[in-house]
Amino acid sequence: MPCWKYPLFFLSLLAITSLSLISESAPTYSGHYCSNSTFFTANSTFESNLNSVLSSLSSNATRAGTGFYNVSAGEEPPDVVFGLSLCRGDVSTAFCQDCVAAATKEILRRCPLDKVSIIWYDECLLRYSNQSIFATVSEVPGLYLINTGNIQEADSERFSQLLGTTMNSLATRASNSQSGKKFATEEEEFNSLQTLYSLVQCTPDLTVSDCYRCFRSAIGSLPSCCGGKIGGRVLLPSCNLRYELYPFYNITTAASPTLPPLAPGGSKMSSLTILAIVISIAVAVVLFFVGFCFFRRRAMKKYNTVSKENVGNEIQTIESLQFDWDTIEAATNKFADDNKIGEGGFGVVYKGTLFNGQHIAVKRLSKSSGQGAVEFKNEILVVAKLQHRNLVKLLGFCFEGEEKLLVYEYVTNKSLDYFLFDPAKQGQLDWSRRYKIIEGIARGTLYLHEDSRLRIIHRDLKASNILLDDNMNAKISDFGMAKIFGVDQTQGNTSKIVGTFGYMSPEYAMHGRYSVKSDMFSFGVLVLEIISGQKNRRSYQSDHAEDLLSYAWNQWRSGTPLELLDPALRHSYSRNEVIRCIHIGLLCVQEAPASRPTMATIDLMLNSYSVSLPLPQQPALLHRSRAKLDKPTNELGSDQSSSSQVILGSVNEVSLTEIYPR
Ligand SMILES: *[C@@H]1O[C@H](CO)[C@@H](O)[C@H](O)[C@H]1NC(C)=O
Ligand SMILES: *[C@@H]1O[C@H](CO)[C@@H](O)[C@H](O)[C@H]1NC(C)=O
Ligand SMILES: *[C@@H]1O[C@H](CO)[C@@H](O)[C@H](O)[C@H]1NC(C)=O
Ligand SMILES: *[C@@H]1O[C@H](CO)[C@@H](O)[C@H](O)[C@H]1NC(C)=O
Ligand SMILES: *[C@@H]1O[C@H](CO)[C@@H](O)[C@H](O)[C@H]1NC(C)=O
Repeated sequence: MPCWKYPLFFLSLLAITSLSLISESAPTYSGHYCSNSTFFTANSTFESNLNSVLSSLSSNATRAGTGFYNVSAGEEPPDVVFGLSLCRGDVSTAFCQDCVAAATKEILRRCPLDKVSIIWYDECLLRYSNQSIFATVSEVPGLYLINTGNIQEADSERFSQLLGTTMNSLATRASNSQSGKKFATEEEEFNSLQTLYSLVQCTPDLTVSDCYRCFRSAIGSLPSCCGGKIGGRVLLPSCNLRYELYPFYNITTAASPTLPPLAPGGSKMSSLTILAIVISIAVAVVLFFVGFCFFRRRAMKKYNTVSKENVGNEIQTIESLQFDWDTIEAATNKFADDNKIGEGGFGVVYKGTLFNGQHIAVKRLSKSSGQGAVEFKNEILVVAKLQHRNLVKLLGFCFEGEEKLLVYEYVTNKSLDYFLFDPAKQGQLDWSRRYKIIEGIARGTLYLHEDSRLRIIHRDLKASNILLDDNMNAKISDFGMAKIFGVDQTQGNTSKIVGTFGYMSPEYAMHGRYSVKSDMFSFGVLVLEIISGQKNRRSYQSDHAEDLLSYAWNQWRSGTPLELLDPALRHSYSRNEVIRCIHIGLLCVQEAPASRPTMATIDLMLNSYSVSLPLPQQPALLHRSRAKLDKPTNELGSDQSSSSQVILGSVNEVSLTEIYPR
């Protein structure tokens, strides 16, 4: 920027800044949530209790001097109403009052007759429910708001680190705050021109650990909601956080939160109080380190440096992806057995038909996923954004109690293995179709690896995960499952996962090391299977049987690569294409991850015959290292995106735990 422009720049910055601060005239609405599942009737006791709660909140919001107020009305469960309001820690008493008063009116307008609702303003929050919400941490539903400007790519790593450290220290400070408000802000210089302003707050009725837990959950959403953005907010019922590159709170008042009036005779600390403080500090220190490690891991994910989509809708709610349980139950005829169309490591898949006639595939995830609701929903948001014609489209999800469902578009022609490995159906896949399928898998994977906002490693590319549409186009399914399932998932459908050993790269099977190069290995196996119509039956039981990779390699070395070709194809195929694909397949299954090509290279190889290919080395032979299998390790490879863990039980059993940082 030329020098003369600086004053102008500052002027406009100042204008924005003062606008946002002088706006203490009217509260700014940010979003709301109506449960829509449970309604009260007009003129009922519930309604009159609700009105009394809202009017009490409206007039008493600032009574406690902390900006927090809770109140209930009614005695018996069906009619009792619980309500609370919370003002941002820095707003004045008068403004807090105005904000809550405005919220009580607006919430009735936005969610008429709802028994459970929340409304968020920039300066306050109000919620009510038919169940007690006091002193209870609640991390759903969440609302994410982003400031659509992007952090410059060169700065993004440093920015996300600064943000992570700041948020973690704020979370610790706010949850331990003794001032009656669980609120903290911080200004950190990002560079000579820009300062990072951050704020966190939770409702002060929560315990230190509940409050901290809520912050952790909110901080955990940052990479997926707001990665690479110059500003973002995570608004949860029990806590919220926000960061911007401009001051959006009153720095003067935020820095000196009013202390609550001393309790009578409370000036002398009892030894019990001291003990309590010592314990809470110790807890805080432990929590801080846990949280720090947690965030470090999350923060290592690539912040979305390349944002392909122009985020048009600034407000993204998870609600648009949410299906309700009854709809899905009706669509699948209560998960009837005849609607079952598949079963994989993560759960059973059912076919369903929505009332509008649309066909869907519903994946009912096995119940023991250790992931919390908020994390689960955040990961859905990420995965739902991945859209490519060679990926099965995720339409939404449903979350009810223990149950987690994923709703996908229905793909008509089953999966690749259904045709490829069945002698009666192989014939339907002629060479041009197979070649098109290989190209489709390559493009879909390339998108996951390189082009999407986040680098997604599939981890389980295999023939049964390649679905085929009406025109036999390949659509990859089950991508992002590792993300969706969360870090604690240790259960899998063991017999099915054993089947995928044939696709596992040696470094994954032995060291749990996962990277784009292990997906490349699986891709290589797939290509060789597509050409030969044979399953790679390599298993730990049959060390000595010749597997598909060795067979392909031996034919290649003896100069007879076409021996590999599926007899069903022998009449009509393109010799050049077939040989090139075998070559590609063999390059991908090489032992050393570094020598395997990337998907971008493959894409180039498939599309241009002028690219000369390196000669493949002998493929990885997994059985050589069988002895090491019962000693799983969890190493962080030099590639940041390559750590994950495989826990091998007995030789027959394997369960996957995804913990790769990105
Ligand atoms: C609740 O219903 C309103 C109006 O019918 C709709 O605009 C809103 O999206 C619904 N919210 C949810 C969470 O379904
Ligand atoms: C509720 O009460 C108001 C005023 O008493 C009345 O006008 C309205 O019709 C009533 N509504 C219902 C659904 O009974
Ligand atoms: C606020 O909640 C606490 C429990 O956290 C409860 O004891 C108290 O009675 C509530 N206040 C009001 C005015 O209902
Ligand atoms: C609140 O409403 C929901 C839906 O009607 C119901 O399932 C739940 O039991 C209610 N809770 C209480 C405490 O009445
Ligand atoms: C911040 O709050 C203080 C005290 O309420 C007030 O005097 C001051 O004008 C506020 N500053 C801004 C920039 O709004």
